[in-house]
Amino acid sequence: MGKERSLLLLFVLALSLGLFNLCVSASNGRQVSSFSRLNSSAIFPIHGNVYPRGLFYVAINIGNPPKPYYLDIDTGSDLTWLQCDAPCVSCSPGPHPFYRPKKNKLVQCVDPLCTSIRTLNSGQCELPSEQCDYEIAYADEGSSQGVLVKDVFILPFANGSLLKTHLAFGCGYNQQSSSVNSPSPTDGVLGLGRGKPSIVSQLGDLGLTRNVVGHCFSGQGGGYLFFGDGFVPFSSVTWTPMSRDPLLKHYSPGPVNLFFDKQPLGVRGLPVIFDSGSSYTYFASQAYKAFISAVKKDLPGKQLKEAPEDGTLPLCWKGTEKFKSILDVKKFFKTLYLVFANGKRAQLEIAPAGYLIITQNGNVCLGILNGTEIGLGNLNLIGDISMQDLMVIYDNEQHQIGWVPADCKRIPKSGTTRL
Ligand SMILES: *[C@@H]1O[C@H](CO)[C@@H](O)[C@H](O)[C@H]1NC(C)=O
Ligand SMILES: *[C@@H]1O[C@H](CO)[C@@H](O)[C@H](O)[C@H]1NC(C)=O
Ligand SMILES: *[C@@H]1O[C@H](CO)[C@@H](O)[C@H](O)[C@H]1NC(C)=O
Repeated sequence: MGKERSLLLLFVLALSLGLFNLCVSASNGRQVSSFSRLNSSAIFPIHGNVYPRGLFYVAINIGNPPKPYYLDIDTGSDLTWLQCDAPCVSCSPGPHPFYRPKKNKLVQCVDPLCTSIRTLNSGQCELPSEQCDYEIAYADEGSSQGVLVKDVFILPFANGSLLKTHLAFGCGYNQQSSSVNSPSPTDGVLGLGRGKPSIVSQLGDLGLTRNVVGHCFSGQGGGYLFFGDGFVPFSSVTWTPMSRDPLLKHYSPGPVNLFFDKQPLGVRGLPVIFDSGSSYTYFASQAYKAFISAVKKDLPGKQLKEAPEDGTLPLCWKGTEKFKSILDVKKFFKTLYLVFANGKRAQLEIAPAGYLIITQNGNVCLGILNGTEIGLGNLNLIGDISMQDLMVIYDNEQHQIGWVPADCKRIPKSGTTRL
């Protein structure tokens, strides 16, 4: 099987929690209003692709002296963490040596950033100065246990400056996953969710950037990630209000109705989440079933035959000759539309390239998978495959999610940085 990661956060247990409110070092001032938008935006080149790598990641320099780490871009969870030699109980060999925490970098369990990663029913700090232990679990059955630390991040700002700032993240010393012991393509996860511990919320609270994050994944691989709104082409973006339901912790524009080639699929009111930590898109069983039967109905049996032997993803087809690119199969497949019930009935158009891959065997496979099978319940995830060649913006200040078609290979020019 191909790589199918889903880093959507399922739960967090903060093992120790605060009662008291000590003074914390994080500044909560917001002194930015006079900065230009580029003075207060950071931008990173993205590496990776949907297939065959199965993920998109950025390189960030962290620590003192700073060292590079590859982090999986995840809008489906809040906590950023690195594999950590604290010492490590269970880690997978990654692209770089594990991060080594220093004692004075520990975040105390009374820090609001620690209390914000707890769940309601978990324990409390026994001592205010206790370290902040946590454990998180992801939808793909992976988990990470660690301790919260604060260290220097080097952020390439769009005006050409490399800004150094202290941010909190997890030192993950015990990772469990289906592929434990096999090498990991990244050193950790970059948590970009709506919650307080997320890197984008921390940058917003420090007044360094607006609490806005966006990504642009190229269909040819690569792209860029940004914090702040300096690169957002506001007038051409399609915006939908973000659901403010506090129980919906993730980036959700509320329920959608599905259309295939403009025909309703008979599936209404699906709750969806934009989740860059998921390489593929997931529909709950009933929607998945309706979608595949609509896709199959239109396929010319002579030219496309099911190819279960491919095995890359659950549903694949082979042609009379090997396919080289999506262009070879485009004519057989139609466009899927997600119509959002909220606001102005915005629609997200998912062309065949947003739900198909061409495998190394030259077959075509469906990149929309059965979410019920991985325990997502009623949730539906819009994964990387369906966000390619779009700039997707998560604006936590205006509480809206937006997208606009973009050439993600062209990283916007910024000051004098060497991007
Ligand atoms: C950007 O920041 C620099 C240094 O703080 C400042 O001199 C400059 O005026 C700022 N530019 C704008 C357009 O605000
Ligand atoms: C760029 O912006 C940062 C953060 O606002 C500021 O500290 C820095 O001085 C600016 N640099 C330049 C070259 O304008
Ligand atoms: C999706 O997965 C669930 C749980 O494994 C299964 O019961 C259901 O039949 C699957 N749906 C389809 C259409 O394959």
